[in-house]
Amino acid sequence: MKRPVAYIAGTGHAVPRRVVTNDDIAAMGLDTNDAWIVERTGIRQRHLAAPDETLTSLAAQASRQAMEQAGVLPGEIDVIVLGTASPDHLLPATAVEVQAALGCSRAAAFDLGAACSGWLYSAIVAESLIAGGSADTVLVIGAEKLSSIVNWKDRNTCVLFGDGAGATVLRRARGGHRGILSSYMRSDGALTQLLWRPAGGNVEPLSPEVMAEGRHCIQMAGREVFKHAVRSMAEATDRALDAARLTANDIDLLIPHQANVRIIDATAKHAGIPPERVFVNVDRYGNTSAATIPIALNEAIQQGRVKEGSTVLFAAFGAGFTWGSLVVRF
Ligand code: UT7
Repeated sequence: MKRPVAYIAGTGHAVPRRVVTNDDIAAMGLDTNDAWIVERTGIRQRHLAAPDETLTSLAAQASRQAMEQAGVLPGEIDVIVLGTASPDHLLPATAVEVQAALGCSRAAAFDLGAACSGWLYSAIVAESLIAGGSADTVLVIGAEKLSSIVNWKDRNTCVLFGDGAGATVLRRARGGHRGILSSYMRSDGALTQLLWRPAGGNVEPLSPEVMAEGRHCIQMAGREVFKHAVRSMAEATDRALDAARLTANDIDLLIPHQANVRIIDATAKHAGIPPERVFVNVDRYGNTSAATIPIALNEAIQQGRVKEGSTVLFAAFGAGFTWGSLVVRF
């Protein structure tokens, strides 16, 4: 087990005001129903952002909580890394808008594109910046406004996603055993078309036809993605545990990416972690992509399920494909 170079000093989260239930979605005229959504995904409701609830405002709200909990002032943040697939603007990075909103006058800021693995990848990048001496204090955010990029006529996708932001402050560890004990990340771009936005980028720019067909929105081959998610999350939990020289018995809580309760159950079963040591909130938020893990972590801390001395296993999987894992001692 390596000696930690970075630890999580504070967490926060923010979700939009409006709650939309499965019945609300069915009432939009879509051929779906609460029973199907609950049985196949575990999702009961999600929060959807109003126009004034931007990615920047959600991310900033979550970040203020995380900084307050960490006892860190805006001027102490060296770098902001924002994992997202739904930025407020295509240029510049939303992280820069968050930097301005928070008044982090000394901070470098950039977005990281790893879809649902966005927070996990960002945390590993932050750890590396700290290890390399470029930063002491890094604000690591996972935030999404997926309602802007979902096709509200496509029942295969629109029922799954939600909006929200989670933030964490990573700081240089100064001795002790608290911090990131191991990490793992991988990608496979051979199957990008199973989960992507086909148009709206350079290859097929936005046009009235693209917009009419909804080709700028998320498209997913759900069943195929499901299989890859189960396989990759299982591999990720194995690798992070091996690297930390720990077993499932050492893990106080598994916090997996929240896409589907059936994927979460399969991941926990593979890892040998019983349900009472698995955090699930997909029922209340749906899949908020890069935001699921930091939102779940903040809630787990608020509920007393993660406290000083807890060892937590994180695992993520998303479009790309990208996947990865972390073991962190609090
Ligand atoms: O965030 C990281 C990446 N994302 C994921 O990890 C998501 C991975 N995939 C999944 O979670 C699941 O595959 C879904 C929840 C997306 C779909 O569940 P499924 O059990 O794999 O269903 P399916 O796609 O095999 O569809 C089963 C049936 C189909 O009807 P037929 O062909 O059997 O007649 C679908 O058309 O369910 C139908 N269906 C729906 N029915 C009611 C699909 N979406 C809906 C819906 N409401 N919203």
